[in-house]
Amino acid sequence: MNRVALAFNPLDLSHTDDPYPRLAALRRDRPVSTPLPGWHVVVRDADVRTVLADPQAWSSRRNNTSVPNTPEAERELALSQLDPPGHTRLRRLLSPAFARTTVEALEPVVRKRAEVLADQLRHGEGSVDLVAAFTAPLPRAVLAAFCEVTEADAAEYDRWAAAFTDLLGQRARPEWPGFEEWARRASDGPALSGVLGQLDRAEAVTFLHFLIVAGVPNLRHALGNLVIRLLRADHWRAVGLPEAIEESLRLDPPALWQMRTATCDGVLADTPIRAGERVVAVVASANRDPARWGEDADAFRPGRPGLRAHLAFGKGPHACLGASLTRLQLRVAAEVLIDRFPGLRLEPGFRFRRAGDFMSRGPAALPVHLE
Ligand code: HEM
Repeated sequence: MNRVALAFNPLDLSHTDDPYPRLAALRRDRPVSTPLPGWHVVVRDADVRTVLADPQAWSSRRNNTSVPNTPEAERELALSQLDPPGHTRLRRLLSPAFARTTVEALEPVVRKRAEVLADQLRHGEGSVDLVAAFTAPLPRAVLAAFCEVTEADAAEYDRWAAAFTDLLGQRARPEWPGFEEWARRASDGPALSGVLGQLDRAEAVTFLHFLIVAGVPNLRHALGNLVIRLLRADHWRAVGLPEAIEESLRLDPPALWQMRTATCDGVLADTPIRAGERVVAVVASANRDPARWGEDADAFRPGRPGLRAHLAFGKGPHACLGASLTRLQLRVAAEVLIDRFPGLRLEPGFRFRRAGDFMSRGPAALPVHLE
């Protein structure tokens, strides 16, 4: 047995450069492993679904042990860190903001923002870094439109959206007071279909911050991963784009894993897990599990049946609320790039270097030649 291949430490960044060979070995030989005391790594599709589906057994709230168990502190937890009944209440209030019609109505705005950025690319000479010039700024601009940020606040919002990249420590950042002041104002307004007015002020501020963390880095990674996939698969065309996008999300999910905490002693895939221990549900592995996707699970095959059942957007009560907005944005962004730059190609010798925290994965830079 290959010992190196059978250790996937989710907190070791070097493991996420190319996590897939290790994950394949684990799926085969050790579906639940314990690389750190009290941390269990779950890699098979069926087991990942079991964990994500049941918040009673696998808590999201307890992942954040630094937050005291008080109603005030609860208001500073992101939606993804709550359990029922608090999570159920909040999610029900917020869901109308993500209605299909609201998201579809954004398409012209998304297209306009993508076109403006694409046109600016032309000014570069030689190779252009698509991450710096396109995949990073576009999700910030789209989220600003989704949140109905006014022209007057746009530059500041863009700065905040670039600064806030994770769920911890934001209140200590120099950008926080300005952001909080804007978020308080925004929560009195009509943005997000008026849903913020139904939350208390602290919850609304927390949610507006969480939208940045959930919606900006993941999208940047998804867009970068998609461009690489399409180019490498010789699939740089608008026909069949929705299926190619799903297949890219399945093979290269920007969010590699979700964390949960066991609420009681139990057993998962023959492995005893004690109350309070962490479970890392690796969706990046589940998405390539041959038991679900067949022997060609590692191959890019946009036509495969049941493709939208991949786990890139999670599953169960915490499944991503922004999935429709993400799909729209990926499609429109790719359509604009393909239309403007039909001959776009990766810089010869391009090698993927990852960006992102230990949970996420996308290219740090994407040097391309435009035609
Ligand atoms: C490629 C882009 C994206 C990916 C891969 C992604 C992935 C995910 C995943 C895996 C979860 C579940 C977390 C868990 O189970 O603990 C989630 C939750 C969430 N996402 Fe996304 N997301 C993306 C974009 C967005 C966008 C654009 C928005 C909003 C504008 C958004 C809003 C949310 C929200 C609000 C939740 C929390 C849902 C809940 O806990 O009930 N996401 N996302």
